[in-house]
Amino acid sequence: MSSIKFGNARQSISSIPVKELAEQFGTPLYVYDLSVIEKRIGELSKFDVVRYAQKACGNIAILDRMRRHGVVVDAVSAGEIHRALAASYCAEASKAEIVYTADLFDRAALEMVVEHGMLVNCGSPDMISQLGELRPGAEVTLRINPGFGHGHSQKTNTGGEQSKHGIWHTQIDDCLLRADQTGVTVTGLHMHIGSGTDLEHLSEVCDAMEKAAISVGRTIHTISAGGGLPVPYKDDETYVDLDKYFELWDATRNRLSERFGHRVSLEIEPGRFLAAESGYLIAEVRSVKKMGDNLFALVDAGFTDLARPVMYGSYHPISVAAKSGDAADREQVEVVVGGPLCESGDIFTQREGGYVDSRRLPAPRVGDYIVLENAGAYGFVMASNYNSKTRAAEVLIENGEAKLIRQREQFEDLTRGEIIPA
Ligand code: LLP
Repeated sequence: MSSIKFGNARQSISSIPVKELAEQFGTPLYVYDLSVIEKRIGELSKFDVVRYAQKACGNIAILDRMRRHGVVVDAVSAGEIHRALAASYCAEASKAEIVYTADLFDRAALEMVVEHGMLVNCGSPDMISQLGELRPGAEVTLRINPGFGHGHSQKTNTGGEQSKHGIWHTQIDDCLLRADQTGVTVTGLHMHIGSGTDLEHLSEVCDAMEKAAISVGRTIHTISAGGGLPVPYKDDETYVDLDKYFELWDATRNRLSERFGHRVSLEIEPGRFLAAESGYLIAEVRSVKKMGDNLFALVDAGFTDLARPVMYGSYHPISVAAKSGDAADREQVEVVVGGPLCESGDIFTQREGGYVDSRRLPAPRVGDYIVLENAGAYGFVMASNYNSKTRAAEVLIENGEAKLIRQREQFEDLTRGEIIPA
């Protein structure tokens, strides 16, 4: 893996010049370096099952490569089940390659789950009854809200009373009664307290899991630690100590295995950790202008391509790839980076609350490329067609070769399905 970068100047991604990628595939462009994903998968090998939260980056080429590396998936919607099937994951419940995990069944999802006999992780008591009616005797896992949560933003905290996620921890007995009514068995438990949290908060889940599993009893064969593993977006941020994290969960699992008299399998369900650092969003600088004291670089990607800054005030590392020469030779200046949308919030360098920030970058010129980094998770998947912008193309770099994995949307795609009544 080689991504030549000096300070905030970048020439290539995984040895392929940014300029070459932009000229071949156009901009805005999402590029994923598969070697980064492979490295991250390897780092989780101690867990029995690595279940990729495909919501982070669901292109079927990415899912296919995950599958080839033994990584299974979750699906939070009928559409995500469709994606998993398109990437040749097997739907059979006994294999548990796809788990439908949500807080409700919409009608399409319930139909699909029943049709394929898939495993379900129920995040609401009603799901147990709705599934049980159509598939009496099914095995399910339960997503438990342990009563606390934590995330990188209040919007990514999925535990506690203010969260809509999971089954409240004191309602497990009620759920077991419901399950009994249709012969449903609870074979596993799952907890996910939030996205982008830290070791301290993640570790608190182990105790809550142990208590919950004991209250269900010997039918439990699987526990899932959920996702939430952070990745560093800023220089002063770090990863979670994975050895320590595994040790805590392994100890919990071992105590439960001993108590139940059978081996309990340990799952982890990351999205961001597997995908974030593999992804780059390349945009072309189309205008450089001064507004009072601020220097703006306006690029051809907006929050329709990467919504995290406008949604959470998220920070993404930014680098400049010069159209000609080397951006590392340029003077460093403070730049506000914005997009093309008719909306003041269309700024990549902003803090939570919408405050406009600037970034120290090599002085950008029209025709240069701005690279938004760590954009592989919750990047393309959160793209929209606002302002009738077509969604970007996606490219996968594999063995030094850049392969198109999604065509850029065309104008016809924008109006597909729309009808002018007579
Ligand atoms: N499992 C469940 C049940 C989840 O709800 C999520 C994320 C994950 C796993 C994966 O979490 P991760 O490992 O990626 O942190 N759009 C937000 C993140 C929303 C996460 C939603 N659920 C962002 O851009 O930060």
